[in-house]
Amino acid sequence: MSRFTHETLEKNSLLLLAFVIIVVSIGGIVEILPLFRKETVIEPVEGVRPYTPLELAGYNIYLREGCYNCHSQQIRPLRDEVVRYGHYSLAAESMYDHPFQWGSKRTGPDLARVGGKYSDAWHVAHMIEPRDLVPESIMPSYGFLMKNGAKLHDLPKHLKALSVVGVPYSDEMIEWAEKDAKAQATGEARTDTEGLIARYGDKVIARDFDGQPHMISEMDALIAYLQVLGTMVDFDAAKNVEGGAQ
Ligand code: HEC
Repeated sequence: MSRFTHETLEKNSLLLLAFVIIVVSIGGIVEILPLFRKETVIEPVEGVRPYTPLELAGYNIYLREGCYNCHSQQIRPLRDEVVRYGHYSLAAESMYDHPFQWGSKRTGPDLARVGGKYSDAWHVAHMIEPRDLVPESIMPSYGFLMKNGAKLHDLPKHLKALSVVGVPYSDEMIEWAEKDAKAQATGEARTDTEGLIARYGDKVIARDFDGQPHMISEMDALIAYLQVLGTMVDFDAAKNVEGGAQ
């Protein structure tokens, strides 16, 4: 009986193929498997928190309306992008987005740091009729968001689903989701934002975003979402932190 040597493999192409597949798979597993553990690829950054229920409702509207078809949410570490949009995006900043909104198309500008760039009133006017503010704009009008009541009753389910895939929503956050959304959208008028702030931090913006105090519209939710984009990490304070500002 001939011995099994390298020559046996070289002369038998099918056997060689089988062994090549085995060896390449081992290499693949060693390289790819660790990437499935988020901790190994994303460095945590202070300040990044899960969206509040109202912001999440806005995020869902952003998906539903397909805003990602025209807007990216990823500032690349290139000088022209950083000068135009601000600090380049960190992986941690989108770690709680399921699905992430990095996008691949910029018909309109990147929105990763649009939070705080404009007033709520600017957003309302712009969403109702973009050409009133930017005459050459080709962005569609989204005035109907003012009339649609935001769907808040199913927010506990949204939070619960996200908690299954690793977003750290506690049982308390899930339980209070609908009330927290209402508190955030009417923040200035009422005083019941204490729980919301205890759960999500004192940087949470609670106010009547759409200027219609009598209702919580889809516009409230969408603007709450837009106003938080890119504002969670304090880059001035993070200057000395690895992964922080240059
Ligand atoms: C057909 C492409 C298109 C779609 C869809 C679209 N936009 Fe835009 N958007 C633009 C363009 C072009 C601009 C730049 C001109 C302007 O400001 O209107 C823009 C600008 C913006 C700005 C201002 C950004 C800045 O920094 O000045 C915001 C905010 C915005 N869009 C939000 C949204 C949201 C939210 C949606 C979904 C509800 C959306 N857009 C859908 C094309 C689009």
